[in-house]
Amino acid sequence: MVEQTLSIIKPDAIERNLESKIKTFFEQKNFKIAKSKKVQITKEEAAEFYIIHQTKPFYEDLCNYLSSGPIVVMVLEGEGAVSKNRQIMGATDPLKAEPGTLRKMYGISIDKNSVHGSDSLENAKKEINFFFSK
Ligand code: CMP
Repeated sequence: MVEQTLSIIKPDAIERNLESKIKTFFEQKNFKIAKSKKVQITKEEAAEFYIIHQTKPFYEDLCNYLSSGPIVVMVLEGEGAVSKNRQIMGATDPLKAEPGTLRKMYGISIDKNSVHGSDSLENAKKEINFFFSK
């Protein structure tokens, strides 16, 4: 089934000028980048975006981090896009990510792990709506 998922290129990757390398990687994996924009969100917006993590000990740092600099948000489209994107991103912790995955190639730490991707079709719809409803 053709799906859409939300992908974010996080501040650490934008800062290191990795936007076009990461976009090319997605295209080589047969994703269509249906929408893309560069934004900087507030801490409050980050807190809303990551609300599912609100009880986690890393929530505060996570919200500070995502709002610390420009990010690129994208709608990726393709066959089984949600799980396929999770696979090619690799594990949340770059140290545990498989070779050839984005987080292995570019991630610095579990916080600065370069990319975010929706974890389910339901969350993908919510996350796409969060950034692209206006
Ligand atoms: P992401 O896929 O964007 O979703 C939530 C983020 O929280 C995650 O990537 C990590 O960058 C960050 N994070 C920080 N600490 C942890 C942790 N211990 N477990 C999971 N995610 C963490």
